[in-house]
Amino acid sequence: MEFILTQSSVSEYSGQAILLPILSEGAQTAATSEMDKALNGFISQLIENKDLKGKPGETLVIPQAGGPRLILIGMGKANGKTGDFTKSAQSAAKALKGSAANEGIIDLSNITVNNKDQHWINRQLAQAFQDSLYRFDECKSKKEDAPAASTIKSLTVVADNQFQNDILFGQAVAKGMALTKKLGDLPPNVATPCYLADEADKLALLSKKMTTSILDEDKMEELGMGSFLSVSKGSIEPGKIICMEYKGGKEGDAPHALVGKGITFDTGGISLKPGAGMDEMKYDMCGAASVLGTMLTIINLDMPINFVAIVAAAENMPSGHASKPGDIVTAMNGTTIEILNTDAEGRLVLCDALTYTIETFKPASIMDIATLTGACMMALGGVNSGVFTEDDALAQEIIEASQDSCDPAWRLPLQDEYQELIDSNFADIANIGGRLAGATTAACFLSRFTKGQTWAHLDIAGTAWHSGGKNKGSTGRPVPLLVNYLANKIA
Ligand code: BES
Ligand code: MN
Ligand code: ZN
Repeated sequence: MEFILTQSSVSEYSGQAILLPILSEGAQTAATSEMDKALNGFISQLIENKDLKGKPGETLVIPQAGGPRLILIGMGKANGKTGDFTKSAQSAAKALKGSAANEGIIDLSNITVNNKDQHWINRQLAQAFQDSLYRFDECKSKKEDAPAASTIKSLTVVADNQFQNDILFGQAVAKGMALTKKLGDLPPNVATPCYLADEADKLALLSKKMTTSILDEDKMEELGMGSFLSVSKGSIEPGKIICMEYKGGKEGDAPHALVGKGITFDTGGISLKPGAGMDEMKYDMCGAASVLGTMLTIINLDMPINFVAIVAAAENMPSGHASKPGDIVTAMNGTTIEILNTDAEGRLVLCDALTYTIETFKPASIMDIATLTGACMMALGGVNSGVFTEDDALAQEIIEASQDSCDPAWRLPLQDEYQELIDSNFADIANIGGRLAGATTAACFLSRFTKGQTWAHLDIAGTAWHSGGKNKGSTGRPVPLLVNYLANKIA
């Protein structure tokens, strides 16, 4: 969709829809009051009659004879919460998309959000509208069977030219999210490790600043990645470690690295998962998908940063070649691992990818993103991603980026006292702890491979997709968080 900035007022607009913000209390914005006057008090009458209370999420479409339809958008209180604003913006996009109009105008210049400026408002607005267009119908044989066939061609925003970059930023984030969602939603017989590698090669065609290199299983054998290979060897799909390097910053500046878990299907392996809902384990590559989506956004914004995105891609299957509980393998850094449960496979692929990233790219900071534990989902639900790091400053940066992007994350503990839970009788460490503190013991495992690094682990098991029912689908999270985090590295 196209975003057009204008300085003229909404009452002069002759397109298909005028979107008017409605506050739940106090004086309305200049744009809304102006329209109200032009319509002889019609809008204030609607508010008085409580046809619309102005709550975030509320919308009302009003056709006008011979003029653009009005779409009233509940905005909540003036100077409200960030989450209320994004909810309103999302509802506005949905209402416009659901109406017969495919273009509209909106003026939010008098809207205020607590602790945020007009730049933030324009970024979130563009992100919400662009994001509303995501649809996954690649696998429907008849496209018209897909829901919500309508679209938005353009949104005219009443704002100064200084907000152009904010619009572009929000739009680029949503386009990154769309790639992340698509990769997540694709079926696991399509989105294989090879497919993800091809996707990385496609991204490299978009920018001269980006290059791809892919480690195949022979190369991994040579590098001694016994931990990664212990997972991929159970499947006929060959595992891949996909390295994407983006050089937009100063030459010689150490890059920031993101490493994504890319289990393209997690059956649990020999420690087989129960059957119910197992289809959703196609989403076990959402960490990888978010790293690819973030790369797309960085490319689209031509961000001046050195950035590496690594994907650890494999399928976790039971077979005659699969690892067994009790097997002991040696990781690239020499650590021996007793595999007590083949379903704790994410950490097994990530640990070698982390070692490789640290040795090869010597990053300034490194973060892994993984649908790692059911325990994290139980602790934080679908609201927050889990953040694990011993570095307080890094934790603060991540939490701030998460709050600013309305892609929330919550810090969970990672302390030495938990490390003994992954002790093994027969190897250096075991790949699982007991029943307790499952999200933390997974983080403890990864911490053994990132000693001395500026490192954090993001567990997105609860936030990467909506589970079950009609709502089932990828969320595109945590792309907004990751892009914000990287953008703050430049500022
Ligand atoms: N991919 C799963 C984690 C997961 C489960 C994410 C359900 C989202 C929803 C991971 O590989 C896994 O199976 N983890 C196990 C670890 C356990 C065996 C220690 C888990 O969480 O049950
Ligand atoms: Mn698993
Ligand atoms: Zn998994």
